[in-house]
Order: sequence, then C-alpha cells, then structure tokens
Amino acid sequence: MVRRATELRQQLQRHDRQYYVLDAPLIADAEYDALFTELQALEADYPALLSADSPTQRVGGQALADFAAVRHPQPMLSLRKANTEDELRDFDRRVTEALARNPVQYTAEPKLDGLAVSLTYEHGVLVQGATRGDGQTGEDITANLRTLRQIPLRLQGDDIPPRIDVRGEVFLPLAGFRRWCEEAVAKGEKPPVNPRNAAAGSLRQLDSRITAQRPLAFYAYGVGYSEGWTAPPLHSQAMPLLARWGFPVSDLIETVAGADGCLRYFEKMSALRAQLPFDIDGVVFKLDDLAGREELGTVAREPRWACAYKFAAEEAETLLENVEFQVGRTGAVTPVARLKPVFVGGATVSNATLHNMDEVARKDIRIGDAVIVRRAGDVIPEVKEVVLAKRPADTRVVALPTACPVCGGRVEREDGEAVARCTNGLSCQAQLHGALMHFVSRRAMDIEGLGEKLLTQLIEQGQVRTAADIYALQAGALSGLERMGEKSARNLIAAIESSKATTLARFLYALGIRDVGEATARELAAHFGTLDALLAAARADAPTAHADKDKERCPQLRAVPDIGPIVAAHVSHFFVEPGNLAVVQALRDAGVHWPQPAAAERRGPLLGKTLVITGTLPMARDQVAAQIEAAGGKVTSSVSAKTDFVVAGTEAGSKLAKAQKLGVAILDYDALLDLVRDTSNEP
Ligand code: IVH
Repeated sequence: MVRRATELRQQLQRHDRQYYVLDAPLIADAEYDALFTELQALEADYPALLSADSPTQRVGGQALADFAAVRHPQPMLSLRKANTEDELRDFDRRVTEALARNPVQYTAEPKLDGLAVSLTYEHGVLVQGATRGDGQTGEDITANLRTLRQIPLRLQGDDIPPRIDVRGEVFLPLAGFRRWCEEAVAKGEKPPVNPRNAAAGSLRQLDSRITAQRPLAFYAYGVGYSEGWTAPPLHSQAMPLLARWGFPVSDLIETVAGADGCLRYFEKMSALRAQLPFDIDGVVFKLDDLAGREELGTVAREPRWACAYKFAAEEAETLLENVEFQVGRTGAVTPVARLKPVFVGGATVSNATLHNMDEVARKDIRIGDAVIVRRAGDVIPEVKEVVLAKRPADTRVVALPTACPVCGGRVEREDGEAVARCTNGLSCQAQLHGALMHFVSRRAMDIEGLGEKLLTQLIEQGQVRTAADIYALQAGALSGLERMGEKSARNLIAAIESSKATTLARFLYALGIRDVGEATARELAAHFGTLDALLAAARADAPTAHADKDKERCPQLRAVPDIGPIVAAHVSHFFVEPGNLAVVQALRDAGVHWPQPAAAERRGPLLGKTLVITGTLPMARDQVAAQIEAAGGKVTSSVSAKTDFVVAGTEAGSKLAKAQKLGVAILDYDALLDLVRDTSNEP
C-alpha cells in the first residue's frame, strides 16, 4: 500500500513537471486523472499514508482567518532602476571600478511583472511560501502557493540541500488574463485592471480554493538563504541546478558582457516583448559571480550588483489642450488631440489621434480634460481614456467642423459612417495630390508623362493648385524641373493638349467623385447626355441628399440605372460644392471638351440597347464599351431583365449565369462585332 502510494506520487510529480514546467506532457489528461483518483482513494482509505508533498494536497480545505507573518532569514531585496542608457552605463562603471575588472559578466533576465515570492524547502519538501512584504517580513501564503502546479511540492535529485529558499516571481500569463477578463465581463463583474493586479489579488486570497482556480504561473530567478549547501560560484550555474530540481526557469536568461552586452539584450527583449505570452516590464542585470556580489554589497535594500532597466511607460496622463481636425488625402477629416507635451513610450508626445467622431463620443473626450495617452512601440500615440474624476467644470465639447479646415469646403458625414469627409475633392489642397494622380491616369484624362514625382514638384512649386492648372502649364516652366528636359516638356505639353478631347464619361470619372467608377460614370453620361443636364439634376437633388429614408433621397440621380441612394448623394454633394464647380468650369474654359450627344450620334445598330460586358475579351473592356457606345448602345454593369445583351468573354462568372437565368441573349465577341458592324438598320 505504502509502495503504491509512493509510486503514484512520484509518477504524478513527474507528470506535473512535464506538463506545467517543461510544457511536454507524456500522458493524456484522462490517464493522469486515473492515477490521481487512485492516489486520492488510497489516501482516503489509509489517512496514515497522507503526506504534505502529495499532489492531492495542493488545494487546502479551509479558508484562513489571516496570513501569518514570516521573517525572511535573508532579506528579499529590491532593485535599483536605470531609466536611460547613461544610467545603465553608470551602473556598469561602478561595478567594473569596484571590482577592478572590465568587462564583467552579467546574467540578463526578463523582468517579470508579477509578485516576488520566497519558497522554503526542507529536505526537498516545500514547507513554506511567503510574499516579499517589506523585504524583512512577508506573509505566509503557503496554502496559496501550493496550488500552483509549476511550484514543485517536492524537489527531484540527489543533491538537494537540507534547507534552501528559492526566490522567484508569480505572474499571470496573458492568455489567462484575457480569459479572466472575458468571463468577468460576461458575468457582469468588474474585470481585473492588469495581469499584475490580478496575480496579486489571487495570491492574497484567504481561501486557497479560489487561488487554485486562477491560471497563475511561476519562474524561479534566484536563491536566498540556505543551510548545508554551498552555492556554485556563478549565478548562471545555479539556475540550471534549479531547473534540474524541478523549478521552471525562463529560457530567456542569458549571460552578457559589460554595458554593451546589457544594451544589446535590452534591445532584443524590447523587440521580443510583444510576442511573449506574459507581461515583462523591463530586464534585470545581475553580476554573475557571487564573490563579486559579496564584495559590492548592498545599500538601502538595493544590491550594488544588480539593476533593473525598465521599458519606458507606455501610458501617461496629460492635459488635452485642444482638438484640431486634419484632412487626409482621401478627404477624411480626422480629429487630432493637441496635448500638453508628455514623455511616454520613450518619446515626448504632443499630438495624438482621436480616430474619428464616434470614438470621441464613445470615450466622452472634451477639451480641457485630463487624459491618458498611450504610445506602445512604434504605434501612433492615441488618447486612451479620460480621467473623469479630474474633469474640470469648464471643459468644451468637441464639434465636427462644418467647413474643411484646409479649403473651407463642406464637410459631410454619411449616416452610419464613422469618418467625415471634405466634399471639395477637386480644389482641396489636402486631397490635391491623390485627386490629380487619378485625374491624369490612363482611364481618366490619360495624360501620359505626368507622373507622381512630377506632380509633387508642380504642387510644391505652386504651379498646380487644381486640375485646371494643368492646362495652363507652359513648356518653358516645365523644362526647369528635375529630370525634365526640353523634349519631354514638349511631349508633355502635347499630351496635355490632346487630352482635352475626351468623352463625358471619362471626364466624370476623372473628377474622382466618391464611388463613381468607370461604369457609373458611363451610366451618368449616357443618362444625362450633357454635363449641364447632370449639374441640374445634382442641384435639384441637393436638398434631398440628406433624406433619412433612402427612397426619398436624390430622386433625379436615382433615375440612372444602377445608382443607389449613397452614390447619388455623393454625386449631388460633389456638384453643389462651389470649389468643385469652379474647377469644372475652369476645365471647360481651358478647352476640355467631349462630343455632344447630337442627333447624328444617337444612331447606330445598337441604339436603345443595353449591354453588359463580362469575362475576358480579346481587347480591353473600355475599348469594347467604346465600340458599343459608338454603335449607339449603352453599357451597364449589372444584368437585369432590362438587359438586351450580355457580351461574355472567357471565364465569365455570375453575370453570365444571371443572364442565362433571366433568358438574356448572350453574345461572344465575334457576334458583338457582327452586330456593331451591321448597318442594315441604320436610317
Ligand atoms: S531579482 C536583488 N530577478 O523585481 C534581486 N527580480 O524590484 C532581487 N522581478 O521584487 C530580485 N523579475 O518581484 C529579480 N528576473 C528577476 C525579476 C525580478 C521580476 C521583480 C521582483 C522583485 C522586483 C525588484
């Protein structure tokens, strides 16, 4: 009986270590449970077999009234801090000077963000576990520490000291922390503030059954008091010993040489930090050789031989002095916090993003508030939250401007959209570069030779402030630009000149109206025939562009096939914006023109027919569309019962399927050519 109990205990201990310390289980959970139940039954039948180091004895049966005080035979020290590279070099200089040896070896370790504990083992059995307390006296939390499966109840090996205190950190890995938070929220309870607090709260439970449910973890990082044992001369030799006895020891521990080695390790950990499954708040450097430690000694509870180099805090409190609005390349109007400068995440921060107005409302951010600013790694600083307790009486509410701070154009925010936008896409300087790149692109005005870099130069020099300015460029001024010879300047002027002859569809597409792609531009051109007709419809629809119900929105523009309420509203907003209208007029004045839908052009074999193009055709889709339009037909993007023909190339997909379903006539490219060339029904 005794033999079987001992055997079971040893097996379970071994499996605990494999599972919790080495992360390499040897048996299935069910097998483990069977061994565990067998031991429990044996111990229940023969209470004399029970021992404190039995794996069945991790969780106690009764809550304590209080924690007893424990005096540490060797004080639990704290660490001096270095906040900057200079301070770290100072630390190293003092050590090297005192020991008259350079460089010295340090062990470099992650600084775990949890709680220091001291574990006392007598003849290999855990007899006591204590908190650090004030360093001299801590609290006896043995019952709670016994519940951590990573803490061995009995040490393994034949070189175990008769008595030894092992020091280390209890912490809560992030996965466990996140799960805990989710569960708390689901239950309507308050989630823990951070993993450190959660770990501290767990260890301070008077009822160890609660601690047992918390997914705490442990790493050993040193040895305190011992009896009947001589420590190896180097710390880096003691750590593998602890691992062999059954303690979890971080595999991130390294030995490094001098301040440079320390700094390299710090960089490495800074980069690794975000990927670790637990929080670390810095790194710890400790003189490796114990004789040197003796020599250096301790001042005011901080050893001269060790130092903590902490990561810069990622959050700081400061004053939100103002909120301003920035306009991005796409016209997005974004609120930006102007802050009283504060040092956070290793840099001085005076601006932070507020993302959008929904975020401002959700966080209830007001000008004049005390706010918490967060800057983690290379991420853009953000205002994380308001310190409501400190809110002064005279804060001001943040209001979205109605006019664009860059160009004065109207700012619109669609229902259900978080982002507000400047509608003056054509003459807003913030949007200029993006708008012009699109304007000159091949499928738009097709101005060859006007590339991104050239546009940037022209904008920076103030030669181009709107798309219309492109048509005022002179070869003389161009040839002075970087990488622009006389010949290419002349070619560019010629390309600009020939781009003036275009189509209404291309012109509308070139304007870069939100959500108006080539197909929609063609629909608009075909439906209205002239730009003036379109402008009139946009103006007529303007009062309804904000209607609450889609059905009532923009009736005139909605009459265009395939145009829904949102696109219609964008078109209307665009063409009532005076800045845009001025540019459109200036472009016409500069000579940009397109054929008017004269009666003569409204002819052809496909007159009155609606076609949809799908799949891969022998030539570019816009060329095919142009052929159809030249034959009087209309090209739309989606198949409906009103579609007359679907022109299907290879790899046609859902549109072809829909045409087949609706019984719409399907043409291949050759059949289309036959139709287009058919002049028999021309008047
Ligand atoms: S050594 C003299 N090593 O940092 C050496 N401490 O400010 C004292 N800590 O209370 C501790 N990771 O809670 C050491 N690898 C590590 C550590 C570490 C975290 C904590 C520990 C201690 C505090 C010292």
